Amino acid sequence: MAVSEKLIQRLNDLLMLDHDAVDAYEQAIKRMDSEMCRNKLREFQADHRRHIVDLKDCVVRYQGRARDHADIKGFFIKGMTAIQSMAGDEMALKAMQTNEKLTNQKYQEALDDLTMPDDVRSIVQRNRNDEARHLEWVNLALAQRYWEKAGPTANP
Ligand SMILES: [Fe+2]
Repeated sequence: MAVSEKLIQRLNDLLMLDHDAVDAYEQAIKRMDSEMCRNKLREFQADHRRHIVDLKDCVVRYQGRARDHADIKGFFIKGMTAIQSMAGDEMALKAMQTNEKLTNQKYQEALDDLTMPDDVRSIVQRNRNDEARHLEWVNLALAQRYWEKAGPTANP
C-alpha cells in the first residue's frame, strides 16, 4: 500500500473514532446530574469536534476523501451501547473512562507510525495530548467523586 493511501486510511480511522467519541459524550452527558461534570464533558466533546475538522483538513490536503460516519457509526466505541443502558454520573464516567483509554491507545498507535508526515503528526500529537488530558480528568473525577461535590469551589 502506498504511503499516502495508508495515511488517508489512518486519518479516516481516527476521524471515525472522533465521531464516535462525540456521540459517546452526548450519551454520557444526557445521563449525568452533576452540572460541573456535564460542563467538563461538553468542553471535551468540543475538542473532539475540533479533531474532526482538523483531521478532515489533513485528508483533503493529501488528496484523500473523508469517510462518511453514517456508514459505520459506533464501530470503534462499542461502549456507546453500554452507556445507553447506564444511569448516573459514576456509571457514565466509568463508560467514558473506557472510551478515553481507547482514544488514547488509537492516537498513540497512529503516532507510532513513523511514516506520518510532520504536518499531520503535529495535528495527531495535539489530539493525542487532548485525549491524555481527558483521561486524566476522568480518572481524577472518579477517584474523588466530583459529582458528589457542589458549589463554586468544586470546579477543578
Ligand atoms: Fe476524549
